[in-house]
Amino acid sequence: MIKDFSVVIAGGGSTFTPGIVMMMLENSDRFPMRELKLYDNDGDRQAVLGEALEILLKEQAPDLKFSYTTDPEEAFTDVDFVMAHIRVGKYEMREQDEKIPLKYGVVGQETCGPGGIAYGMRSITGMLEIIDHMETYSPDAWMLNYSNPAAIVAEACRVMRPDSKVLNICDMPVGTLRRMSQIIDKKPDELEVSYFGLNHFGWWTSVKDKESGHEYLDEIKEYVAENGYLTQVEVDTQHMDESWQATHKKAKDLLAIEPRFLPNTYLKYYFYPDYEVGTSNAAFTRANEVMAGREKDVFTAARNIIEKGTAVDGGFHIDSHASFIVDLARAIALNAKERMLLIVENNGAIANFDDDAMVEVPCIVGSGGPEPLAQGKIPEFERALMLQQVTVEKLVVQAYIEGSYQKLWQALSLSKIVPSAGVAKELLDDLIEVNKGYWPELK
Ligand code: NAD
Ligand code: G6P
Ligand code: MN
Repeated sequence: MIKDFSVVIAGGGSTFTPGIVMMMLENSDRFPMRELKLYDNDGDRQAVLGEALEILLKEQAPDLKFSYTTDPEEAFTDVDFVMAHIRVGKYEMREQDEKIPLKYGVVGQETCGPGGIAYGMRSITGMLEIIDHMETYSPDAWMLNYSNPAAIVAEACRVMRPDSKVLNICDMPVGTLRRMSQIIDKKPDELEVSYFGLNHFGWWTSVKDKESGHEYLDEIKEYVAENGYLTQVEVDTQHMDESWQATHKKAKDLLAIEPRFLPNTYLKYYFYPDYEVGTSNAAFTRANEVMAGREKDVFTAARNIIEKGTAVDGGFHIDSHASFIVDLARAIALNAKERMLLIVENNGAIANFDDDAMVEVPCIVGSGGPEPLAQGKIPEFERALMLQQVTVEKLVVQAYIEGSYQKLWQALSLSKIVPSAGVAKELLDDLIEVNKGYWPELK
């Protein structure tokens, strides 16, 4: 029996909130809701989206109970799912994460290298906070988390909240599968993949037709070798800006280094950091691009809706690509045994990789949570790269817990995209300075 769900979106002021709410409305036959709440610790930011969504929902889903709040008890009481997309430090700090490394000629990226490490040190606190709210007020609820940096957040959950019902998921493989399906003229849900790696650090080893079992890997590789994942048609509601197009294209060079598998686009930061820095504009990074683009568009649309008092012809767009979140919620709620890529503790899924590493692999998701599927042994090239990267992530979490300057310095020095321990130390000192109040104190 399908019941009507109660959902809270944590990070209600996120640029993704309106698109995800619209997506949930579109999927209301598959995922009926009785109540939807927004929760954020920045009341003013959230209120803009909250007020606009209130108008929209009155028009489009009058029976759905809707509210927005900064009060944890109100937000987290009586919910079945917490959909979490918080950004601790908001865009102001993303900008720092990107610009400080660039000062040293190092890649400045939201989730990779020093930027990802800095963001991770901020995110852990916010994530623990909302996990604890969920467990206090709705102990049976599940959190579907896509707050970044997901790899570090997932490792922090493994170590600090091992029994919490938190599922960490990323949309990059979902978006890239859409592109692959476009290349071979199929629908994403007609395909079944095998994949191994860490979050933002992995490879597809198989892309098969679900029904016939036909393997499309070679056909897709042939296309990617020429064009990367750049396709002609709009296949993705996210990842469309010019900088993203360059990223899709760069997959061509990632395939060249490892022609056996199809690469995750994020590998470009690790394999071509010189290219990345060379093509970056240190005065206008991705954070600036998003602030001038997605953030401005979403908040302008919200203000227009509020001003007009109606969302008819209003500018919120459905984020259809986010429907994987509904797939995941349904899999849990209805024991649907859906096959999805999730970030989980390895425990043998990758046979020749550490049991306690948080890896990204296909899982079967039912009401008991995810069951990782065995991906066999991986080649030594990928294994070595992954071990280096997962150790960076583990050191960050240890540094956070122990308040250890030394461990964070080691994490930065070990990161493949930081050239030396000397640069790592200078970077660390700068990052500590701007992250005052966000990071635990390091000794
Ligand atoms: P955003 O800054 O627009 O929104 C984040 C919101 O979180 C802000 O309103 C902020 O006030 C709020 N917030 C910060 N700390 C909080 C806390 N402790 N408690 C409650 N709310 C808090 O950011 P965005 O660009 O919309 O992205 C949101 C998040 O989603 C980011 O972490 C981003 O990296 C992530 N994301 C992940 C994926 C994925 O594939 N996993 C895809 C897209 C975005
Ligand atoms: C992809 C990744 C996310 C990341 C997002 C950044 O979807 O999987 O983890 O947050 O890109 O996109 P942005 O448009 O904010 O640079
Ligand atoms: Mn991601």
